[in-house]
Amino acid sequence: MPYPLRTPRLAISPLTTGDIPAFVAYRQDADVARWQGWDSSYNETDADELIASQPTTELPSSGGWLQLAIRDPENGTLYGDIAIHALDEFHDTFEIGVTLARSNQNRGIAREAVMRVLDHLFTSANAHRVTASCDTRNAPVTKLLTAVGMRKDSTETEVEFSKGEWITLDSYAILKTELLRSPDTVTQG
Ligand SMILES: CC(C)(COP(=O)(O)OP(=O)(O)OC[C@H]1O[C@@H](n2cnc3c(N)ncnc32)[C@H](O)[C@@H]1OP(=O)(O)O)[C@@H](O)C(=O)NCCC(=O)NCCS
Repeated sequence: MPYPLRTPRLAISPLTTGDIPAFVAYRQDADVARWQGWDSSYNETDADELIASQPTTELPSSGGWLQLAIRDPENGTLYGDIAIHALDEFHDTFEIGVTLARSNQNRGIAREAVMRVLDHLFTSANAHRVTASCDTRNAPVTKLLTAVGMRKDSTETEVEFSKGEWITLDSYAILKTELLRSPDTVTQG
């Protein structure tokens, strides 16, 4: 197994039951949940079920998700998580989603984690394309995805009904060839 993936400031490896208190605490934060599929009612049972459903393989099988914890490598503190989804309708294509606890935002941690996971998917998993989908109003994630070299591929207007309203989603993507051209590839720890 390649985990933990290391960067200068982070260790990234599958979420475990030991992460549950910190994971639930930030999922219950209304600011963090604003553009996500869960809300402040997210609880320990939800987290238990999520962790119990996780694959024990390096990558999810086709159609599945793998939830990776983003941790402080020194003391194991959970900063946030990054999820990998193997799209079943497209060969060698993965979707990612990233969340940080509010106290760990605006430190460049998401950028560092996403770059490392992209590097992992394109080198170790031989991915062809990685995508990310976000509400068009979610400015921090738009900034993040652009900063790591992803580009907006498409916009689907009012495509999903979430939290009482129709939402418009932007889809971002990066190809293996595009990452290899990027000057900012994160050094492995
Ligand atoms: C999306 C999300 C992960 C982005 O987190 P973030 O902390 O804003 O992103 P980054 O790690 O890239 O941090 C970037 C900021 O840190 C600053 N920063 C501070 N120290 C830094 C460092 N050492 N290196 C790089 N950037 C640093 C940058 O300047 C940048 O600020 P700016 O945008 O004002 O220029 C976060 O907003 C989040 O968890 N939101 C809730 C969940 C969510 O909506 N997820 C998206 C679902 S698709």
